[in-house]
Amino acid sequence: MTAEPTIEVIEPRLYAASVADELVASIQDAIHERGRCSLVLSGGSTPSAVYRCLAMPPRVESVEWGKVDLFWGDERWVSHEDTQSNFLMVRETLLAHLGSNGPRVHPVDTTSPTPQVAAERYTRTIAETLGTAPDAVPEFDIVLLGVGEDAHTASIFPGSPLVHASGAVPSATCVAVKDASGEKDRITLSPNALFAARRIMFLVKGASKAEVVQRVLRGSESFDRAPARLYITAPAERVTWFLDSEAAVQLDRRA
Ligand code: 6PG
Repeated sequence: MTAEPTIEVIEPRLYAASVADELVASIQDAIHERGRCSLVLSGGSTPSAVYRCLAMPPRVESVEWGKVDLFWGDERWVSHEDTQSNFLMVRETLLAHLGSNGPRVHPVDTTSPTPQVAAERYTRTIAETLGTAPDAVPEFDIVLLGVGEDAHTASIFPGSPLVHASGAVPSATCVAVKDASGEKDRITLSPNALFAARRIMFLVKGASKAEVVQRVLRGSESFDRAPARLYITAPAERVTWFLDSEAAVQLDRRA
């Protein structure tokens, strides 16, 4: 029988600081065990508050940033100066506050000629940085993920061609996709790349997420309708859900 993922329920006012503490500990573990840490960042408002806490003393000084590689789990097809850019969000909340011995930063190159070229280049960047073959599934140390109210995660939306009803469709590490409207371009890591990570941390906060948390963690919908449910394809002991008490409120009410 598959193990249940770990679920941590945190008071809303303590949420960002608690998750930042967990993240520091995970980064330290990876560096201790393997010498470096590859960390895949998520966009969204929940992680941005966590990054702000990570950037504050004493946490920021307890990470050997020079041994960290930062990647992005997904990105909008916009300039790095655009307010929609996940790179810009991380630059403002975290990178701007790090000292000179900072991490190696690997943003998606949104100046590439097309989203498809950007995705191909990002696949190569990841393989070269991690020292794996471009067609192999990379094994990141830590992947941070959010969940949208429609049960998307990263930029894997309901109905995505990356997902079948029965599971993930094998694909390159990084792919060009459309957003939920089907109109705007995005780049996302594929489900197989995300869920091969050594540690997967879902960050979900707020009452507006209570229903989707119940659907994803306790429901039985097909993967193509609720892509965040694909997490169950990862060994459950590697997956932790950090919920605040508002997002967790429906979890005990089984249908
Ligand atoms: C993004 C992410 C997206 C996000 C969720 C949750 O860049 O927006 O791709 O998957 O993590 O939509 O976002 P919130 O934390 O803002 O609710």
